Amino acid sequence: MQIKIVTIFPELVESFLGASLVGKAIAAGKLAVEVVDLRSFARDRHRTVDDVPYGGGGGMVMKAGPWLRALRSVAGPDARRVLLSPQGARLDERKVVELAGWGELVLMCGRYEGVDERVRDLVVDEELSIGDYVLAGGEVAAMVVVETVSRQLPGVVGLGDSVENDSFRRGLLDYPHFTRPREIEGREVPEVLLSGDHAAVAAWRRREALRATLEKRPDLLAGAALDDEDRRILAALRGE
Ligand code: ADE
Repeated sequence: MQIKIVTIFPELVESFLGASLVGKAIAAGKLAVEVVDLRSFARDRHRTVDDVPYGGGGGMVMKAGPWLRALRSVAGPDARRVLLSPQGARLDERKVVELAGWGELVLMCGRYEGVDERVRDLVVDEELSIGDYVLAGGEVAAMVVVETVSRQLPGVVGLGDSVENDSFRRGLLDYPHFTRPREIEGREVPEVLLSGDHAAVAAWRRREALRATLEKRPDLLAGAALDDEDRRILAALRGE
């Protein structure tokens, strides 16, 4: 998969790409990421990418010209062109899986008060937000997209089934995890996890995932894939 990130802060994004899981995915050739400096598509000596808003008011607006030239230069014919902005649809795990299915993503990082509306009309396929809050720009959001999407690529996350079991993948939060020591400050690892009984462990994990979701994010239960046994467990947890 190929991801291109268009930004006025290439160095900010570059430092992130070397680190951790994303860096490994790139080193292993599963993912290629190209960082594109929007300013290199400006036409003046000062490499200007913003201007005052028509209609007045404070703040600056990103000019259409550099964006149009950048996108027409870097995006392949089948690329998915995504603008990161607080006006976008909310990113969730389902969207991440969908984005991972594109051969090429172009992530456009907006800044300042906004981007000239004609950029949306002419070179944006979809607009995404990472949450209902305002960042100084789309760079951090683009990094969120790169990291979440790269986890979905085959062979990037170590254990074969570890992405399948991720929180959210099945619509539930994750179950609790434990490692050695067996007891710490009086708190014991649940007995069932030491039993070697795989079916009992799986049943415990499912139950604890249901419990965690019910306690922390009950809103997720409406969209989760639940069977009769899950519904019975939930009723019991609710004290019904
Ligand atoms: N740019 C500014 N705020 C943002 C947000 N919440 N999500 C994506 N891009 C943004």
